[in-house]
Amino acid sequence: MSAAADAYPGSIFSLTDHEIYVVTARSDGRDSGQIATWIMPATLVPDHPRVAVVISSQNFTHGLLAVSGRFVLNLLSDEQHALLPLFGLYSSRDYDKFAGMEVRRSPEGIAVLPGTCGWAECRVVSQLDLGDRIIYVADVTAQEIASGRRPLRKKEAFALQPAEVRAQLEEKHRTDGARDRVFMKQFTR
Ligand SMILES: Cc1cc2nc3c(=O)[nH]c(=O)nc-3n(C[C@H](O)[C@H](O)[C@H](O)COP(=O)(O)O)c2cc1C
Repeated sequence: MSAAADAYPGSIFSLTDHEIYVVTARSDGRDSGQIATWIMPATLVPDHPRVAVVISSQNFTHGLLAVSGRFVLNLLSDEQHALLPLFGLYSSRDYDKFAGMEVRRSPEGIAVLPGTCGWAECRVVSQLDLGDRIIYVADVTAQEIASGRRPLRKKEAFALQPAEVRAQLEEKHRTDGARDRVFMKQFTR
C-alpha cells in the first residue's frame, strides 16, 4: 500500500481507513479548501453536535479558519476521488480550487461543495496547539445530509489515483512530515 495512504505502517492505525473531507473556510472575501481526514465527532449530546479537527497551521485554509473561527466540513462521496489532488496536493495560495464548480454557501457564507454526502458548518469553541498541528474543537451550527451517497475513504481514494498523482501525494506526505518534525521538536518541552 502507498506510504501516504498508510501513515503508520506496522501499527494499529494502519488498520484504520478514514473518511475524506474537504474543509472549507472563508475570510475577508477569500475562499479556501483543503483535504482533511483527521476529523471525528466529539460529543454524545445529540442536540449539541461537536467535532474535533486536526489541522496544520501551514495550510492556507487554516489562516482563514483561524481568523473567522468557522469552517465547513464537506464529506466527499465515493465518486469524488478526483478532488483529492486539487484539494490535497495544491495550496489555495496559488489556485482558485473552486473554479468551474457550482459552489453553494452555508448560512455563514462558507463554500459548500456539490456532489458530497453532506456538509456541516462549524464554529470553533476551543483549540490545542501541538506545534506541528492544531486540534480544533467546534460546535456544528448547521448541517445537511444527502441521501443515497457513500463516503469516500482514504485507501480507496489513493488506489483510484493515477500513478503520478499517487507519487506526488507520497512526496508531499514525506516533505510535510519532515517539516512537521521540526515544528513538533520546537514545541515539545
Ligand atoms: C489524504 C489526505 C489527508 C489529509 N489530511 C489532512 C488533515 O487531516 N489535516 C491537515 O491539516 N491537512 C491534511 N492534508 C493536507 C492538506 O489537504 C494539504 O496540505 C492542502 O494542500 C492544504 O491546502 P491549502 O494550503 O489550500 O489549505 C491531507 C492531505 C491528503 C492528501
